[in-house]
Amino acid sequence: MKVGIVGAGFVGSTAAFAMVTTGAASEIVLVDANAALAQSQAQDIAHAVPFTHAVTVQAGPYEALAGAGVVVLSAGVGQKPGETRLDLLERNARVFAAVIPAVLAAAPDAVLLIATNPVDVMTQIATRISGLPPHRVIGSGTVLDTARFRALLGARLGVTPKSVHAHVVGEHGDSEVLLWSGATVAGVPVDRAAAQLGRPLSAEDRAAIDEGVRRAAYRIIAGKGHTAFGIGGGLARLVAAIAGDENLVATCAVLNDQVVGVPQVVLSLPRVIGARGVVDTILPDLSADEETALRRSATILKEAADGVEQ
Ligand code: LAC
Repeated sequence: MKVGIVGAGFVGSTAAFAMVTTGAASEIVLVDANAALAQSQAQDIAHAVPFTHAVTVQAGPYEALAGAGVVVLSAGVGQKPGETRLDLLERNARVFAAVIPAVLAAAPDAVLLIATNPVDVMTQIATRISGLPPHRVIGSGTVLDTARFRALLGARLGVTPKSVHAHVVGEHGDSEVLLWSGATVAGVPVDRAAAQLGRPLSAEDRAAIDEGVRRAAYRIIAGKGHTAFGIGGGLARLVAAIAGDENLVATCAVLNDQVVGVPQVVLSLPRVIGARGVVDTILPDLSADEETALRRSATILKEAADGVEQ
C-alpha cells in the first residue's frame, strides 16, 4: 500500500523508517514545507531499503500523495521541555487548516492517521475540516502509552511485553487512564499473575509504573529534545493493520458520539482497525475509579476541542 507522510521531521521520518523495516508499506511519499528536508529524509531512508524490505521511498509535493491508502499527519511543532501536549494546540491547529485540505485534494480516499499533538484534539480538528466519516480519521492516541504500560509491566513481571494485555485509554496526555483492573497475563489478573511469578506488585510499584507511563515523553524530551522511535513504531503498526486489513485491536483515537456521558469527543479506546479504518470499538470494563478518571479525561479533551472551534 502507498502511504503518504506529511511532516518529515523526527516523527514522520522515523515512522517512514519503521514502515521500511517492517514492510508495512510498499511505497512511501514524504511531504514537508521544507522540501529539502523531505528530499534528504527520503534519500537517507531509501538507502536502508537494500538491508530490509523493497519499499520505494520518495519526497514530493502534495500532488505526489495521489493514490495513497493512508496519509500520516505529523506536521506541526512538538513539545519543548516543560510544555504539555495541549500547549501546542493553537499553533498546530493553524497548520492543519492549510494541510488537511491539501491532503484531501490529492488523496480523497485515504485514511488519515493523525500523530501531531495534542493528537486527540488534532484528530477532532482533522475530522471537522476534512468532513470525512470519523472512522477514516484516526489519531495514534494512546497506542504508544499502552505499549509503554505493557513494557513496564512486562519488565516488572519478567515476561515479554507482548504477553501482557493492558490498555491505556482517554487522552494521550496527562489525564490518560491506565486500566489496571483489566490488565492480565495469560488471562490472569495482573496482581495474581505477579504473585504467581514471585514478583508481587505493591502500591509503590503501581505508582512507579503509572508515573513511568504518564511522564515518559517529558523525561525523554528533557534528555534528547523530542520522542520519535516509540511513536514511529506505533504509526507503522497501525499502517500495517490498515494495509493488511488485519482487524487489529489497538487503543487509538476517533470521534465518539459519547463516552461515559461526554458527547462528541475524540479519545482512545480499544478499536478494531482494518482496511476502512476503525471498524469497531470495544468499551472495556471499568472500575468506578477508572470510569471517573475517563470521564475527567474526556471532559478535558471536550473543553479543549470546543475552545478551538469557538
Ligand atoms: C510521546 C509523543 C508522541 O508520547 O506524544 O512520545
